[in-house]
Amino acid sequence: MARKFFVGGNFKMNGSQAAIKVIVDDLNNAQLDGSNDVVIAPPAIYLCKVLETIKSPVEVAAQNAYFKNSGAFTGEISSEQIKDAGIPWVILGHSERRSLFGDSEEVVADKVKAALAAGLKVIACVGETLEEREKGITNDVVQKQLGAIAKVLEEKDWAKIVVAYEPVWAIGTGKVATKEQAQEVHADLRKWLASTVSAAVADSTRIIYGGSVNAKNCGDLGSAADIDGFLVGGASLKPEFIEIARTKK
Ligand code: G3H
Repeated sequence: MARKFFVGGNFKMNGSQAAIKVIVDDLNNAQLDGSNDVVIAPPAIYLCKVLETIKSPVEVAAQNAYFKNSGAFTGEISSEQIKDAGIPWVILGHSERRSLFGDSEEVVADKVKAALAAGLKVIACVGETLEEREKGITNDVVQKQLGAIAKVLEEKDWAKIVVAYEPVWAIGTGKVATKEQAQEVHADLRKWLASTVSAAVADSTRIIYGGSVNAKNCGDLGSAADIDGFLVGGASLKPEFIEIARTKK
């Protein structure tokens, strides 16, 4: 099955009204042809403004969502609220959420479950630290992270999941994984999906790569058989994001 190439832009806690307007204007002027899915994730406070101003085919994602629908959870937003605001996507399990804000594998799974129940599509992130890679346990780590999520999913739910493989050592460091390193993990994740979920899910689920992707390396990375797109951080704030969004498989 041909998997549609997916390019996400995670602005993280960056930008201002003025700076994000420039990015949105650039994307609108680029008149992307829809051959790739392109989804941008601004900070929560700018989500509604971006949703109002961004033009199709670019879509919008939240960067996080709590697993409760409502209540006394100061500072959080729920998947139901994100859906209510008209936002179709949410990023969950990003390594910064896991390492800085204590999102355990169980919390990430609960968040994924709540997001799907609310009707959102999910960019679910996994990835190993440098120490884990050096110990040779990369596959164990990412399979355990994805396994915690898989436990709360039914087979049909996978149609709403994009898996983002983001090695922690490559995020924001300029040390991009080589095409071979990323392809190896993506292929192993796909094999794991085939044996744990089903061959059909393994074949149709998009597995995207994140970690120091830029306009110079996107063509090479994107040519790997099992790399179905990118989750871009720093470069999503720059004009080069348009070039990345246009990556041809
Ligand atoms: O969500 C995006 C990733 O963390 C990648 O960030 O492109 O700045 O390395 P980066």
